[in-house]
Amino acid sequence: MKILLINPVFFTLSSFLLKNTNTHTLIPMGNNNQKSSCCSNQSMEKSESTAPEDDSSIYVTRNVKNTPSNSRSLVMSDSAKQTSSAIYPDLYEGHFSSLLIPYKDLDSRCKEIAEHIHATYPSDEPLVMLCILKGSAPFYNLLCNHLSILGHPFMIDFYRVKSYEGTGSSGTVKHFGDLPKSMKGRHVLVIEDIVDTGTTLKSLLPTIAEKDPKSYKVCSMLVKRFHSEGSEDDDEDDGGEITKQIELDNNLIGFNIPNAFVVGCGLDYNEMYRDLRDIWILGEEGIKGGGYDL
Ligand code: IMP
Repeated sequence: MKILLINPVFFTLSSFLLKNTNTHTLIPMGNNNQKSSCCSNQSMEKSESTAPEDDSSIYVTRNVKNTPSNSRSLVMSDSAKQTSSAIYPDLYEGHFSSLLIPYKDLDSRCKEIAEHIHATYPSDEPLVMLCILKGSAPFYNLLCNHLSILGHPFMIDFYRVKSYEGTGSSGTVKHFGDLPKSMKGRHVLVIEDIVDTGTTLKSLLPTIAEKDPKSYKVCSMLVKRFHSEGSEDDDEDDGGEITKQIELDNNLIGFNIPNAFVVGCGLDYNEMYRDLRDIWILGEEGIKGGGYDL
């Protein structure tokens, strides 16, 4: 088994996660509401007790306290850059501090989520897959592809909201256009890229409820620094606000991530880096670049 050196930059992130774990086992994973709900919370937990013998640089902590049990929580080692097969344009050289989630792990997690959706939503009516633009588009595409492979019927719809400027929430959520009519009387899955403070969802979900869907739930690629209500850490965090008052289904979350600004797989910094297949932690060089001049 390879010995991995932890980059001091990630020490804070690691200790944040470790502070919030019941067990501190780090496991390589390289190879590897609102209204009524139609779905049972069927367990999708996988047995990941054996570590594959490869150079995987992504680690998942199991039994993370206060994080949904069927999602994944990540902490990075420094060896990612050397061992990963991540691809990025030359234009972005030096912009990232580290790779967080390789594409193949995103894709395999999407497959698991799609299997859960297929097992819990009825197959005799189409599920409305509502993509929240722009950031969710690549994740949405992966998820829909796996649903198609499973033969699960769905409708495609889009809606755009915006709350972030640069690397922080602006505190206000802008809505663009009208919500699709397809939601009335149907089960709806709201596909998000990332939940951070929860401001976007708190603004969006009531407007979805007004469209009178049979049920609606959120499916998010990432959740940042998630704590459940009433946890002992609710009032202190290593990075400010924490996710609260949003009901998330464990089975519909891709990965729980530490409090870092991430880009790629649709996630941007002032419109830059959406094109990356993998998810990266943005570095100082990237932030200095300021994103695209809009
Ligand atoms: P919230 O409203 O604070 O929950 O943030 C959700 C929205 O903020 C997402 O839909 C993203 O557009 C954006 N966002 C939050 N964190 C990040 C990040 O780390 N990278 C890029 N965008 C982010």
